[in-house]
Amino acid sequence: MREERILMVDPVGEEEQANELSLRPRHLEDFVGQSKLKERLGISIEAAAHLGKPLDHVLLSGPPGLGKTTLATILANELGARLRVTSGPALERPGDLASMLTNLDRGDVFFVDEIHRLPRVVEEVLYPAMEDFELDIILGKGPSAQSIRLDLPRFTLVGATTRKGKVTAPLRDRFGIVDKLDYYDPPELQLIVARSAGILEVEITEGGAKTISRRSRGTPRIANRLLARVRDYAVARADGVVDDQTTLKALEIFEVDELGLDKVDRAIISSIVKKFGGGPVGLSTLAIAVGEEPETVEDAYEPYLLQIGLLQRTPRGRIATGSAYTHLGLEPPATPQQVLPGT
Ligand SMILES: Nc1ncnc2c1ncn2[C@@H]1O[C@H](COP(=O)(O)OP(=O)(O)OP(=O)(O)O)[C@@H](O)[C@H]1O
Ligand SMILES: [Mg+2]
Repeated sequence: MREERILMVDPVGEEEQANELSLRPRHLEDFVGQSKLKERLGISIEAAAHLGKPLDHVLLSGPPGLGKTTLATILANELGARLRVTSGPALERPGDLASMLTNLDRGDVFFVDEIHRLPRVVEEVLYPAMEDFELDIILGKGPSAQSIRLDLPRFTLVGATTRKGKVTAPLRDRFGIVDKLDYYDPPELQLIVARSAGILEVEITEGGAKTISRRSRGTPRIANRLLARVRDYAVARADGVVDDQTTLKALEIFEVDELGLDKVDRAIISSIVKKFGGGPVGLSTLAIAVGEEPETVEDAYEPYLLQIGLLQRTPRGRIATGSAYTHLGLEPPATPQQVLPGT
């Protein structure tokens, strides 16, 4: 159910999946941007090598498409470790987790995507595994049930989440390294676009890369996706070169505006402005108005709208800012929505 929703927000087609694999940087030095995070991880990786110890557990949070999975694979590469991948929703029962844990070797990177969606009973099995590298399993049922304790090899858990607030405190506290990814700025995205164009053998000008980078919502996955769509347009309707003019025309057809907002982003701000008088409006009402799930609106769309200052969250709901009105080509209201201090 939830998987379908995620696919709706982020329709990852076959081409895009193949692109994600080939475009994913494999080493920390090829990972563009996030310089502070990269430095911190680099230090911990080197220290682990010096000390001859597996890296501490790492929790990475941030909006979709910023590079959490990419970083997990880079960590494994840099550590020269094997990567084992699963996700919160895939680990339905404690046994699912136990069978993954008992198959780990010392130093392995165990990547759990969407870790905030681990069922509680499974999460509880993870605590001693993370802290003491021990696994308690119960054999049999009823009065004859026996609990046995297994030693696990020292592994590195890498957890990723789009919702740090949903990771329970006991789980979060068991990670030695907790860090977050931020939206990228246009010059960083321009480097990513140029790198991807090189790998995909797309002919691109500096102007083309610049325009794509400014309209990618600060998100490498979107930058790569726009590059592929503009390339299609360039090949089908122009001379095959992704330059500034071709990019502008293509993005108009794909309904990506000058702030990089897509149809859903615009539906969110225009609903608040036009249907709810600028807000405040509650998340679930807003989600219904734009035909998306509340989680999708909250995780995939709102963070960027908040970041660029078109939306504000208040205890009474979401409100549109003056910039949102201006972006929609409307006059901002004379008395702007009151934002309570400390919200
Ligand atoms: N810093 C970066 N430099 C270059 N490319 C990047 C970078 N970060 C992400 N990418 C590209 O963006 C794509 C999406 O990144 P990734 O899958 O790691 O995001 P994610 O944070 O795991 O997203 P989700 O929350 O949806 O799982 C990758 O395939 C990669 O090509
Ligand atoms: Mg991911």
